Amino acid sequence: MLENYLYIVMVGLPARGKSTIAGKLCESLRRDGISTRIFNNGDLRRKLTKENTSYPEFFDPRNKAGAALRERYAIMNLNHARSFINKGKKPKVAIIDAANVSLKRRKMLCQGLLHDRVLFVECINDDHEILEANIRYKIETPEFSHLPLEEAISSFKKRIEYYEGIYTPMHTGRNFLKVDSFNYRILKEEVNNDVPFIDRIRDFLVTPFIKNLYLIRHTETYYNVEGRIGGDSELTPKGHLQAEKLAERFKSKRIPVIFTSASKRAIQTSEPLKGAQPECRVIPLREFNEINSGICDSMTYKEIREKMPEVADARKRNKYYYEYPQGEGYVSMEQRIERGIKKVLYLSKHSDNIMIVGHRAVNRMILSYFVYKRNEDVPYIYMPQDKYYHIVISQNKKVFELKKFS
Ligand code: F6P
Repeated sequence: MLENYLYIVMVGLPARGKSTIAGKLCESLRRDGISTRIFNNGDLRRKLTKENTSYPEFFDPRNKAGAALRERYAIMNLNHARSFINKGKKPKVAIIDAANVSLKRRKMLCQGLLHDRVLFVECINDDHEILEANIRYKIETPEFSHLPLEEAISSFKKRIEYYEGIYTPMHTGRNFLKVDSFNYRILKEEVNNDVPFIDRIRDFLVTPFIKNLYLIRHTETYYNVEGRIGGDSELTPKGHLQAEKLAERFKSKRIPVIFTSASKRAIQTSEPLKGAQPECRVIPLREFNEINSGICDSMTYKEIREKMPEVADARKRNKYYYEYPQGEGYVSMEQRIERGIKKVLYLSKHSDNIMIVGHRAVNRMILSYFVYKRNEDVPYIYMPQDKYYHIVISQNKKVFELKKFS
């Protein structure tokens, strides 16, 4: 028996982040010199079947022909994974990426891998909002391109329902890790000592993994010129020019998705880049809206000092923890920023490049999520409007660099 090899079997309902985790895990293991391959049942089905298999009833367990076909691909994929593992003596991992939610299917896999090392990784995510957003992503694949938006959504949801009908969550048996794929948490584990690479895999599952994140502050607005805070001001001509420079700066990098706040200034900053890369999606997230300055909204710092000196003083004394009356402080943004970042990581899938266009306070919080800073220092992080932060986070590398647009 080979010593350094492992079969990882993904488990979970559709749209729970299995393929994203499989893809990132594959890359991470390869970087460690472990030859790793993904065997995806859906890809095999789409490659080998001529007829349309994307309609929901194909996944109805009562559809005998559909079930038999899926079983056939599952066995075929298992055999492909086996030949991959059995070739050569180098350390290897085969990731079998499919729903594998029924006991029957998992029994078949366990039988087929009776004398092998197997780790089941079950992905769970019950966050309704994230699930909805992920479904929207899924239906943009060619498999659903023949359907109008609403029909595609309900078709995919129906597919999920069929899988729910045969789903038995993992509770005992061979080695398994139950993972909250949105929150990067291992919820449960039953793992024997003889699972190779397990420390690496556990670490991977709880570490946000970012190839390239470009963190940008929106460019100049009319409020910036007047020194006013908050509001929903538009970009000035200089701000538009800066946004064009930004697009120019990234013209040779494919940016598949830009996450912005819901404010005009952030969305407008993303527009020239989106214009130059039509396949780029802009996703506004209210989690990235600028700090709510409550009763001080739309005032200048000078006006606040003159009209509400107690506010100005209290904030100066304790900027991170001070909350504007009827508004927020840095401290009260913590949770929403964390949720925004998790949304970004979950929804950007396996992208090489992710971009966020946010605001001064928001970007300070985003940066401090990745790079440790004492809370007291966060409100003073430099956040210019003509430069951006480039962030890379992996198990082996943490980089953040401030760079100019041009
Ligand atoms: O001035 C721009 C701005 O984004 C305001 O909308 C916001 O209140 C402020 O910066 C946050 O920066 P600080 O916490 O340093 O006041």
